[in-house]
Amino acid sequence: MALRIGVIEGDGVGPEVVSWGISTLEAASRLGGLELEFEKVPVGGTAFLEYGKVLPDDSLHALRGCDAILKGPMGRPDIEAGIVERDGILALRQHFGQYVNLRPVKLFRGLEAASPLKDELLKHGVDFVIVRENSEGLYSRMGGLTEHSATDINLFTERGVRRILEFAFMLAQKRGKSLISVDKANVLSASLFWRRKFDAMAESHPQIKCSSQLVDSFCLLVLQDPSPRKWDVVVTDNMFGDIIADEAAAIVGSLGMSPSANLNPGGVSMVEPVHGSAPDIAGKGIVNPLATILSCALMMRHCFDRDDLAIKIETAVQGALDEGLRTPDIAAGETACSTDEMGEAVLRHLK
Ligand code: IPM
Ligand code: MN
Repeated sequence: MALRIGVIEGDGVGPEVVSWGISTLEAASRLGGLELEFEKVPVGGTAFLEYGKVLPDDSLHALRGCDAILKGPMGRPDIEAGIVERDGILALRQHFGQYVNLRPVKLFRGLEAASPLKDELLKHGVDFVIVRENSEGLYSRMGGLTEHSATDINLFTERGVRRILEFAFMLAQKRGKSLISVDKANVLSASLFWRRKFDAMAESHPQIKCSSQLVDSFCLLVLQDPSPRKWDVVVTDNMFGDIIADEAAAIVGSLGMSPSANLNPGGVSMVEPVHGSAPDIAGKGIVNPLATILSCALMMRHCFDRDDLAIKIETAVQGALDEGLRTPDIAAGETACSTDEMGEAVLRHLK
């Protein structure tokens, strides 16, 4: 039976990167004997202008019937900031119970010049994965705003913390190196609660090398030494995960190289590039499609259990980079290529 992929093109550069995502999934599925069908579903700023809702009911209904979702970035400068974020991106994650936000951080060979870090610091590579809690914390959407004060409740529940930590321990077990939890337990009760749960779980997993790091210190240390000897699986809460994922993207050269997967291990998961809709470069044909293409690899690995096809996609990305192709965000002063040149090169290598 065919696997059904819901496709949200999103706004700005969304349609440009998503079309390369679809082509990648098609090519990989041909290689791997998978049958895929795609259904485009309007969600986002453009959907808001057209249908009066960021996430129209029909779209939600269609997405419920899918096996996985490929989502482009969303947000438009002509719509007040926050509307698309809350009613689109966060609503999707919440609705589908996607409590894991997986953000691999990998420096591809040849992209050292695109990183702001010295070559010396990159010689062992960079290859870790951020496991970001994706359903509560400061994103619980509890709180309020008046003229005189505002609150955001940093909600951590036993169930919410346990399930994300269990996922992180499982991943750390698979990768076999170490697990670092990032929090702010010296100040926040919510972090202290998290750390206690983490420490308890660490005790029952003596085979995994576990430690905790305060978030400010993590931000410093990862710049001083981003190597795989130090960082492998990093688990953290929603807000800290958001922030450290962008810092990590800079280390590996660009947000344009940063994929993500919003996972509900028992439900409908959704992959998306970490970057936004970048309206300033939309329609120019220069956006980096690799974050979306690499997100499709995550779909193969985590939604369809096809590690073989994920590796093929990732190897094809390395192949395109080895040819010297660089979109402007990773060109580091060298000649840049277009979105399509990069996408075509990946497909050539996906054989
Ligand atoms: C991300 C984004 C979103 C987040 C915003 C746009 C709601 O920054 O995916 O990292 O904060 O999670
Ligand atoms: Mn973010």
